Amino acid sequence: MVTPENRDEHAGWKLHAAERALQLVESGMAVGLGSGSTATLWIKLLGERVREGRLKIRAIASSADSERLGRTYGIPFVSFEECRTLDLTVDGADEIAPDLALIKGGGGKLLREKIVASASKRFVIVADASKQVEKLGRFPLPVEVIPMAVPLVMDPLRELGFTPTLRVNRDGSRYVTDEGNLILDCSGLFLENPDAIAAKLDSMVGVVEHGLFLGMADLALIAGEEQVIERTI
Ligand code: 5RP
Repeated sequence: MVTPENRDEHAGWKLHAAERALQLVESGMAVGLGSGSTATLWIKLLGERVREGRLKIRAIASSADSERLGRTYGIPFVSFEECRTLDLTVDGADEIAPDLALIKGGGGKLLREKIVASASKRFVIVADASKQVEKLGRFPLPVEVIPMAVPLVMDPLRELGFTPTLRVNRDGSRYVTDEGNLILDCSGLFLENPDAIAAKLDSMVGVVEHGLFLGMADLALIAGEEQVIERTI
């Protein structure tokens, strides 16, 4: 039985999803690089192709970590000044609903991940089968907040039914995002109507971004024991 608790045992499955996503990349493409362990596998495969001279691409990364990794392979990076639209972005997810609504941000990179995904013609998710859910919300929804506003958004989040918890690092210090913000992990609420929740979060002053990616994914490559399943809407 695959559950979120044992999902880290599925590195092999993640690799299969990453390998399938590599087949979508063509020379000349502008590519968005996601974040997290599955996206990292994909970046490594992509980077090897670039290093061997078999693929010529330009990239924009959704995190400092992913950009750093890409540079070790010689992947050339550009900014949105130079490249407004990406042909393809490949990223992981924490939960995937049947309509490809997602929770993302378990790794804390949700803000740049959403920016990169929104600039992409094709947004592809790579994941192992444990990420599939019938309803979003078992995984705590990450909400990125401007530091000074954290005390102000706690009550509105509770009024929505969430239990917000400030994300901390292993040493107990506050987790700070690449953009200098804090993350509230919002648990305790299965999302009957993710669009309504997203609209409420979008309207909260001090909330920079949240981990609901709705209507954004075009394809999910979900790897299980035997095969990689392609899911579209
Ligand atoms: C980071 C993310 C990741 O894509 C998500 O957490 C999935 O990570 P992994 O592939 O390691 O399970 O949203 O902010």
